[in-house]
Amino acid sequence: MQQLHTVDALAAWRRRQNDVRVGLVPTMGNLHAGHRALIDAAVATCDRVVVSIFVNPLQFGPHEDLDSYPRTLQADLDMLTAAGVDAVFAPGVEQMYPQGESATRIRVVALDDMLCGRFRAGHFEGVATVVAKLFNLVRPQAAFFGEKDYQQLAIIRRLAVDLCMGVEVIGVATVREADGLALSSRNQYLQADERRVAPQLAAALTACGQRLATGERDFAALENDALARLREAGFEPEYFAIRDAELAVPTAVTQAFRILAAAWLGQARLIDNIGLNVAD
Ligand code: PAJ
Repeated sequence: MQQLHTVDALAAWRRRQNDVRVGLVPTMGNLHAGHRALIDAAVATCDRVVVSIFVNPLQFGPHEDLDSYPRTLQADLDMLTAAGVDAVFAPGVEQMYPQGESATRIRVVALDDMLCGRFRAGHFEGVATVVAKLFNLVRPQAAFFGEKDYQQLAIIRRLAVDLCMGVEVIGVATVREADGLALSSRNQYLQADERRVAPQLAAALTACGQRLATGERDFAALENDALARLREAGFEPEYFAIRDAELAVPTAVTQAFRILAAAWLGQARLIDNIGLNVAD
């Protein structure tokens, strides 16, 4: 596996990949089975796969966990080698932001001030900006993102179309623990007693989905019931929202639903979502 730490080394590697389908999997490292599902999907469908590892300062708020975010480069490299990845791009901050703070920012206006965006000012602008840079650097035919971060996936899809990036954005289903908790690097912030409660977030989404499936359509009542249930279990929820698959507010005729939630449990901010198609 090629280890690329500079933009120049990445560009040189990319120039050598002619007439092949290049897949990109952007990550912040601390790789787990959720990332592995993206990587396996990329390896299965692309001729060459590059995984980026970069904890992007631009997407962290001033009081968020940029400094404490887990960094496990050697274990990550071992996993990527075993997975059959061709190249890893692990740049320093000075490589990605050589002029200091980026003066150019990408904002997917229609999607970034709702849901998580309401609680994390500037977060999705930071994500969209760094992903646009990675797309320009790697020029992949395909890029892989997890449904776990559904709003992020929707934003990247829209960015790729709106900016004519020519990248096929592929969403990969959420990988969960046996008890339903979605895998996340931030699960490490949970204390043992909180870890026992954490699957209740996925359970609240599933319970809401079951009520939608049986025909209930009072969305506000369903959301409020779920918020109460989460508070009861010990969460501090930020939002619990029933949307359609494009993240618009659903109507009486919506068939493809997405149910999304974010909630604090101790020091951990957990997010999760599920899809539900009532036409199925
Ligand atoms: P990170 O949190 O490292 O996640 C990298 C990718 O792995 C994202 O596309 C995310 O949705 C996916 N992922 C994480 N947990 C998952 C799970 N349990 N199941 C399936 N996929 C999962 O998301 C980011 O990094 C950053 O915002 C990034 C896109 C790299 C931009 O900096």
